[in-house]
Amino acid sequence: MALFRALRGTRDVLPGEVPRWHLAESRAREIFARYGFREIRTPILEAYELFARGVGESSDIVHKQMYVFERGGERMALRPETTAPVVRAFIEHSLQHASPTVRLYYIGPQFRYERPQRGRQRQFHQIGVEVLGEESPRVDAETIAMVLEYLDSLQLPGLALHLNSVGDPVCRPPYREALLQYLGPRLSRLCGDCNRRYEENPLRVFDCKVEADRLELAEAPRIVDHLCDPCRKHLAEVRGCLDEMGIRYEMAPSLVRGLDYYVRTAFEVTSSELGSQDAVLGGGRYDGLVRDLGGAETPGFGFAIGLERVVLLIPEDHADLEREGVDLFLVGVGEAAHGRLPELARRLRGGGYSVLYDYELRPLGSQMRRANRLGARLALILGEEERAREACVLKRMADGYQEEVSLQDLMVRTADLLQHRKEGERRKDGA
Ligand code: HAM
Repeated sequence: MALFRALRGTRDVLPGEVPRWHLAESRAREIFARYGFREIRTPILEAYELFARGVGESSDIVHKQMYVFERGGERMALRPETTAPVVRAFIEHSLQHASPTVRLYYIGPQFRYERPQRGRQRQFHQIGVEVLGEESPRVDAETIAMVLEYLDSLQLPGLALHLNSVGDPVCRPPYREALLQYLGPRLSRLCGDCNRRYEENPLRVFDCKVEADRLELAEAPRIVDHLCDPCRKHLAEVRGCLDEMGIRYEMAPSLVRGLDYYVRTAFEVTSSELGSQDAVLGGGRYDGLVRDLGGAETPGFGFAIGLERVVLLIPEDHADLEREGVDLFLVGVGEAAHGRLPELARRLRGGGYSVLYDYELRPLGSQMRRANRLGARLALILGEEERAREACVLKRMADGYQEEVSLQDLMVRTADLLQHRKEGERRKDGA
């Protein structure tokens, strides 16, 4: 039995799964760059206070999910999300001076102490995007369009876009009052969490997963019906832009999001293939956050994708998944031939091929079995006779085709026999 195991809610990504992660990450880099986004890397450790202020003391994330500890008299946290850290970096480095609109993305681990289940972990990964300095509803629509293009390129199944507006500091307080009035007489029938939400942040009751509570809330007043004129106009324009681009969405009046910084647009993309943790991503507008964290009044919009959930959904047969296995496995028959393998491997690796061989001289059959197990595309077999003629045999493992090749022509013939793969790669590079 293993002495140690990965902690509950954390997991190892094993080599067999890594091609999916690479694809999800490289597609994000490619597509986001086309929209003018640049990568930022912020620390995993931040001041506790950044999240208390940024994400909100009353949010579940800060209230009960953060990993918090103290060192050297400083209270810090493992980041549970990266919008607040990006905004901190934006302010700290005056990034708005470089350009009026700052477009950033990040990829990395986040930490939340939650009850682990399929698609929900304590250490998970996000790919996130933040646009700072743009108020226009066009930003909301274009950024949503960008992430849908990304998800489409990964061929994720069963996606649906849900949209709402959560109002702003002008229309939310009167709405809050209306909601409190509705909830007051029903409190004894609502769960303990909802009773706490009633005190701290009543909009959160819409996050409740308890079925009886959901029924109780079915007739509750909805924020979209209480928006002030500027918020209503913003929402109408976002919807107009999405319609213009032919993007389908559902209005989701009870979508409130679990973080306090949102104003106006809130959205999520779900997949029907995910089970109960069905949100592939979530985001929205956070126009007050930069100011709340000590910067100048600056609008913001962004989202974060749950990378584990994306990886679960990428189809097995996605054409752009990196193929596993090596290009060539070298097989030496007899001491002298086996002794030539290191030099041949060097040449072939120098030519850009992945190459493995056995360090110990083993029987031919055992070397061939290893070539198979490693998923080698070609076996290069060097026997005594071939070696004497400065030649070798190249065998294509998929169909068993083989030919004798002079070592002088090795690079050219290897390229020919692996051509299929090379063409696939060229297509991926867009050449
Ligand atoms: P969030 O909705 O808390 O938003 O998280 C975004 C996504 O991260 C979720 O939709 C889900 O896919 C994934 N996720 C969240 N928690 C877990 C977990 N425990 N295990 C696995 N995946 C998880 C934010 O974090 C905001 N910072 C998004 C944002 C960026 N808003 C504006 N800019």
